[in-house]
Amino acid sequence: MARIVVVGSINMDLVTTVKRRPEPGETVSGAGFALVPGGKGANQAIAARRAGAEVGFIGAVGDDVFADELRHVLVDAGVGVSRLRRLPGPSGVAAIVVDGGGENSIIVVGGANSRLTVLDRGDLEAIAEADVLLCQLEIPQQTVLNAARHARAHGTAVLLNPSPVQELSDQLWAAIDIAVVNEGEAAQLGTALDAVPNVITTLGSDGAVYRGPDGITLPHPGVRVEVVDTTGAGDTFTGALAAHWDEGPEIALAWACTAGALATTKLGASTSIPTRNAIERLLSR
Ligand code: RIB
Repeated sequence: MARIVVVGSINMDLVTTVKRRPEPGETVSGAGFALVPGGKGANQAIAARRAGAEVGFIGAVGDDVFADELRHVLVDAGVGVSRLRRLPGPSGVAAIVVDGGGENSIIVVGGANSRLTVLDRGDLEAIAEADVLLCQLEIPQQTVLNAARHARAHGTAVLLNPSPVQELSDQLWAAIDIAVVNEGEAAQLGTALDAVPNVITTLGSDGAVYRGPDGITLPHPGVRVEVVDTTGAGDTFTGALAAHWDEGPEIALAWACTAGALATTKLGASTSIPTRNAIERLLSR
């Protein structure tokens, strides 16, 4: 079983479903509303756990009404929370609108995630003992860099999903072993991605393509499903990929594409992440 440590975000998602997004200045009636635990870090941690890995989460919730539920969603999924802190102030939240086509737009307010600035000795030990360190960019970039450098120094593979996309420092680029990006992120990051030995670009319903250190590319086709909501699909892809990375890119991509596709068939982020059984059933078809 792969051992994964996520250093990342956890948010409460405020999800509104609507047939059509309002234009600026327009008011429309929504079809539904739900509070769903999410955050790229938590989603990826749960996805890796459900895909079969042992997972620990290093992150922060606030001391508000959302904090306990956010913690519980990780505990219920079997993700280790001994390094989840509770910091004064609000938890992270994301305002999400899902339209009739299943496409989303998201505004994230970092809250406690933005205050995750210090990794203590216990965090660093957990990173050193893991097979894969999994990070995103919803926490301060300096924290990601500190975690990545420590991982590198202890032989832990560093997988970064540079989302929400932003400019990365040269030091951080140099510390990444594996990057998972969507097409938009790949276009924005451009040639900077060439510094990363292993790059996986997700292509939505068309699957994904892997580019290895030798430059050779390996495509994986999309898995056809009925799309309800794409929120968290990229996170599910990334978590499943991390869980199966040690089996080689071909197998890891198959797990990731299948898990990611299944995640689009339900509403919400953490609520749509498939179980290992569901992924295996679809994989075997
Ligand atoms: O990738 C989806 C996630 O992005 C949501 O769960 C939301 O919290 C934002 O972080």
